[in-house]
Amino acid sequence: MFNRRMTTAAITVSVVALLCAAQAQPTTLKTRFEGYTYASNVIGYVNMTLDYCDIQAAITTGNFTAALEIYATGKNSYSGLSRRTFYRFASFAPAAGVVEPLHDALTAGRNATWLDTLIKDAISKRDGPLTLGLIQVAALKYFLHEVDEGFNKIRTYFQDPTNNDILISDETGAPHNVDEAFALWAGGNPRACGTLSGWAARLGSDMDATFLGKSFVNSAMTLALNELLASSRTADLDIYNDTRAMVQRYITVMGLQGVVRSLYRAEAAVACKRSAAQIAEAKAMITVHWTYLEPLLFARNMRASYIQALGQALTNPTPSYSRALPAIRTVVSAMGRRMSEIGTPQFDRVTAGWTTCNAAAVAPVAGHRQS
Ligand SMILES: *[C@@H]1O[C@H](CO)[C@@H](O)[C@H](O)[C@H]1NC(C)=O
Ligand SMILES: *[C@@H]1O[C@H](CO)[C@@H](O)[C@H](O)[C@H]1NC(C)=O
Ligand SMILES: *[C@@H]1O[C@H](CO)[C@@H](O)[C@H](O)[C@H]1NC(C)=O
Ligand SMILES: *[C@@H]1O[C@H](CO)[C@@H](O)[C@H](O)[C@H]1NC(C)=O
Repeated sequence: MFNRRMTTAAITVSVVALLCAAQAQPTTLKTRFEGYTYASNVIGYVNMTLDYCDIQAAITTGNFTAALEIYATGKNSYSGLSRRTFYRFASFAPAAGVVEPLHDALTAGRNATWLDTLIKDAISKRDGPLTLGLIQVAALKYFLHEVDEGFNKIRTYFQDPTNNDILISDETGAPHNVDEAFALWAGGNPRACGTLSGWAARLGSDMDATFLGKSFVNSAMTLALNELLASSRTADLDIYNDTRAMVQRYITVMGLQGVVRSLYRAEAAVACKRSAAQIAEAKAMITVHWTYLEPLLFARNMRASYIQALGQALTNPTPSYSRALPAIRTVVSAMGRRMSEIGTPQFDRVTAGWTTCNAAAVAPVAGHRQS
């Protein structure tokens, strides 16, 4: 009798557990990832890293139709009943009259279709590296939008602080936007195929621009996002605004690292007689990083002739790191920064896996270039 009753009770418990499991949706709420604790549920944004993986997998098998489909209509991430898409990130434009300084710095007056057009061109040319890189730029664009939207919510909160609490609430207010921004920066899963923080980490390592083994752009960005979260919860508008300016500066540093590292890799690929596809891949990443770096340099009031000279050095048909260095140094110095902060391409890391490659083929030695 006793055993029978136990069994019934056990069955009841496990049925209830099953029902709960069936209903349980994954959430980021109160989870900690890479130095940041989510204040709300932004699992849909984390799920975009799954879309990225699936696009990458489709491209790897040469199925650009499938890649376009996931890009345009989504797959793993839900916003209510509809799917969230990278297409939306690429083609988002603020509503009329809404000012979004970081997002607007990146779009630089171009209309809502420019980035989507670039991505679709890359897909139709079956250019995998360019497609994947530009999709990350779309994530970066929407990341900047979320940071701006957080600011606008706090500002609106002050118009009626007694009734506008919801605008600084964790669930749906400015802190939620900061969570969305962090999810777009770093995701929420160490197995993600590609994230912006992954870019920063790789660039920090390849350029030897690390502190205690971590890319300092990544460390700085993590702290900045924690600061944005804190100042959004306490409605410290000025601190939020100052911090978002830092976010823009960190992205600019990452862009400089991105073009320098990619240019060096392109030159190494040519010197080491890698396949045409590998040379094209390295060149595609110059384009990808320049897509956001160029407008951010303009937004920083960099002299136009310096930007133009850098753009020319980067797009020279014969990639040469040493020939581009003067243009790179001029821009970095005009920003008041030192080249040591941007870093130096580390041959072994930039060309990892290229076994027959020799550093002397690319590295400028004592001011001279070996050929
Ligand atoms: C490409 O992916 C689509 C799904 O989007 C599928 O219908 C099609 O069969 C795939 N093509 C090939 C050649 O595998
Ligand atoms: C996120 O992905 C998980 C796993 O595929 C899924 O269970 C969940 O419903 C998705 N949530 C959203 C909001 O996209
Ligand atoms: C957006 O800009 C591009 C290039 O500047 C132009 O070709 C296109 O027609 C514009 N689209 C819209 C909807 O204004
Ligand atoms: C936010 O900071 C920028 C400088 O980064 C400044 O130009 C702007 O006036 C500030 N906005 C507000 C509303 O304080």
